[in-house]
Amino acid sequence: MTSMPLNVAGTPARDLFDPDGDARAYRVWRERKLAEYPRSTPELMVTVKDGRSLTAAEMDAMHLCLRRANMVIYRLENAAGEDKTLIRQLGSQFGLQRLDDNLCADEDGITSLRVVEQRQEGEYIPYTNRRLNWHTDGYYNAADRQVRGVILHCVQPAAEGGENALLDHEIAYIQLRDENPDFIRALMAADTMTVPANIRDGREIRPQHSGPVFSVDAGGKLHMRYSARARNIVWKDDSVTRAATEYLLNLFQQDSAYIFRHRLKPGEGVMSNNVLHCRTEFSDHPEGGPQRLLLRARYYDRISDPGAGA
Ligand SMILES: [Fe+2]
Repeated sequence: MTSMPLNVAGTPARDLFDPDGDARAYRVWRERKLAEYPRSTPELMVTVKDGRSLTAAEMDAMHLCLRRANMVIYRLENAAGEDKTLIRQLGSQFGLQRLDDNLCADEDGITSLRVVEQRQEGEYIPYTNRRLNWHTDGYYNAADRQVRGVILHCVQPAAEGGENALLDHEIAYIQLRDENPDFIRALMAADTMTVPANIRDGREIRPQHSGPVFSVDAGGKLHMRYSARARNIVWKDDSVTRAATEYLLNLFQQDSAYIFRHRLKPGEGVMSNNVLHCRTEFSDHPEGGPQRLLLRARYYDRISDPGAGA
């Protein structure tokens, strides 16, 4: 067998994430991933002068964060207000092109996240000020519309709260597999999670469908679909799946050294390969004051990495 590329950004064999695959290759990848994973939030932050046209050094710095943790927190020095074109242009420099046309996206495919008053029962929590539990974006999307890249950009933070916590899904995978490889086998099963149909006013907007939590894309990269919110998912009813999902929940509740916490400031954002994340509750300024506003762009593309396989 030929030797494996050893860098975390490389293009490993497709079976790297298969618990029954090449154990030695996995061990090498795992060691390197853990050794290179950032130790603190500041290690994930990159300041960018002009988000429309990054310098080579800024690109390199962002790619390094993405390689280590599947995410980067950027700070755009020229961001001003609700500029969706700027976010599009930033994303396109990273190969992010195909926007997810979800139910709540604005016409241009980028969603403005702000508190919307008087929504009905069954409202989407992103549009309220309540705590948002751990999830990956678009976990409910059909298999051919998976969200692989995400930009969450802050125009205006809340008066108080609204902090994000972030965890690289590759780290969650490692922790689960360390505990019990059967957890991975269970979470890779095609029927492990079922997303109930979305029915509004008696009309089915999205049919029920099942899929795996962990899957591997055509480039050999790990992809994750998940929501910790019990009402969002019907889990396969067997003891291993139950134990695996409980273990996963515990990863979030502990004071994990792998979880980054950050409250985005104006002009800052998170670009990621759809890592696990959550949000604390927040309160806005009194009426008349600035309201929290984030822009969210979800893509079918994974962030392209010119250094992959190098
Ligand atoms: Fe999200």
